[in-house]
Amino acid sequence: MIPARIHRYGTVTSTNDIAIEMLHRGEPEGTVVAALSQSSGRGRRGRRWIDRPGDCALISLVLTPGKPLSEMGELTFVISLGVADYLAIDHGLDPALKWPNDVLVSDKKIVGILVETVGNLGAVAGIGLNVNQVELADEIKNTATSVAIETGRQSNIDEVCERFAAKVLEVYESYLANGFEHILNRWLERMWGVGRMVEVSSESGSVTGIIDGVEPTGELIVKGADGNLHAIHAADAIKVIMG
Ligand code: BTN
Repeated sequence: MIPARIHRYGTVTSTNDIAIEMLHRGEPEGTVVAALSQSSGRGRRGRRWIDRPGDCALISLVLTPGKPLSEMGELTFVISLGVADYLAIDHGLDPALKWPNDVLVSDKKIVGILVETVGNLGAVAGIGLNVNQVELADEIKNTATSVAIETGRQSNIDEVCERFAAKVLEVYESYLANGFEHILNRWLERMWGVGRMVEVSSESGSVTGIIDGVEPTGELIVKGADGNLHAIHAADAIKVIMG
């Protein structure tokens, strides 16, 4: 078992910054940085992650899977599955996994995941889970949710970080032991949107079609109106058109 070695902080710039420094210093796999708040939390595609102290569980995990860079994308599936397992087991929720790494509850985003690779040293997986918010800002309240909104209960953030890190590391360990196919099969059981008509937009344009599944290598498969299957490697947004 990889034990979670949690380093707790008050306010930091970003837990990913600290975890990256730790990875450079040679801290072992299982090292976890947890903070109460971040002044420059970051999200995917240059977005910011804004939190209010005590509302979110903010953690970053140091991981050294020893895989080539081309396989590091697998980590987003591993982490999102770990988050889903945690929410199901500890909070009785039924999360859906939206490709590539969103975790949805009641069709709304409950967590942000940012995996950053650090040369050939390894990666840092930063996770921000909405825990205690009972109300969300106007601009996100239609698309986001929290554990408190879904369960009606407040949680102790330190305990959440501990249990949550341990669950993610458990799933990560089963990835190292049993391979990506095993993780992907479990991930697919919770996959969001199969059979739904969507528009997937990315830098290279957009594809409209029905979500069909995920390739063994992690690409999203969308069946276009012409009947052709498109394998999509990266996307900025997936918008439901119908279904
Ligand atoms: C996203 O949805 O765009 C990803 C957001 C990731 C936010 C988390 S919070 C903990 C860790 N530290 C960061 O600066 N970002 C991640």
